[in-house]
Amino acid sequence: MQVFRDPSALARAVANQLLEQRLRRPQRPLGLATGRTMEPIYAALISCIAAMAEPERRRLRHQWLSFNLDDYVGLAPDDPRSFRSTMRQQLQEPLGLATASLRLPCADAEDPDREAHRYGEELRAAGGQDLQLLGLGLNGHVGFNEPPCSADAGCRCVRLSQSTRMANAADFGGDPEAVPERAITLGLREILRASRILLVVTGAKKADILNRLLLEAPSPGLPASWLRGHGCVGLIVDEQALTGSSLR
Ligand code: GLP
Repeated sequence: MQVFRDPSALARAVANQLLEQRLRRPQRPLGLATGRTMEPIYAALISCIAAMAEPERRRLRHQWLSFNLDDYVGLAPDDPRSFRSTMRQQLQEPLGLATASLRLPCADAEDPDREAHRYGEELRAAGGQDLQLLGLGLNGHVGFNEPPCSADAGCRCVRLSQSTRMANAADFGGDPEAVPERAITLGLREILRASRILLVVTGAKKADILNRLLLEAPSPGLPASWLRGHGCVGLIVDEQALTGSSLR
């Protein structure tokens, strides 16, 4: 576990790992996440890339391949609240990437179950994630794998918990009822197949769930706890998230 006091140092450290993945193993996809935790990380990534020489930047743009974890069911790709739009604003446009370089499940697919299956297969055909970036939900979810969730749950359409709809209400005018009821998410199965995983937990609000994650044995009630079974997980946290943890 790496603990940071300075938020910009944390964001730079994670951004450097993402960049290193794109530069050293471009043939394997990078697994990306959305959420507030990721905003400073993507901003730091853009700054790192801006400081690179143009030929290297061009190579990076040309070779970019990332798969996001999830998106809400029912939102059009240009709906500003979709994760597709978030990725467009936070990475694709600032870096000048082609739309096809950033893969996400198609949120407004006519048949979300079928789309989830297709997306999982697309990721598998691309070789699976080399590095998977993850945030942690307040209820212990990763992606949108809500508790209870087994370690072999695959890419699928899920029903969001009330706590997740409340946590994400800010993007929907503050109204949890306006948050879509369903999402398509990569499962723990695809997440655990990544060669490396980087879990980032920041902010005092995450202290309780981080504490549980550090102490509890793996179980369906805490989906992120299945990460313990993976041999290569980096945990990066800030001091606020660690407050109250028994390992502090
Ligand atoms: C969201 C996403 C996750 C994200 C998590 C934490 O709902 N589906 O991928 O990591 O919840 O979000 P935040 O970083 O905003 O706390």
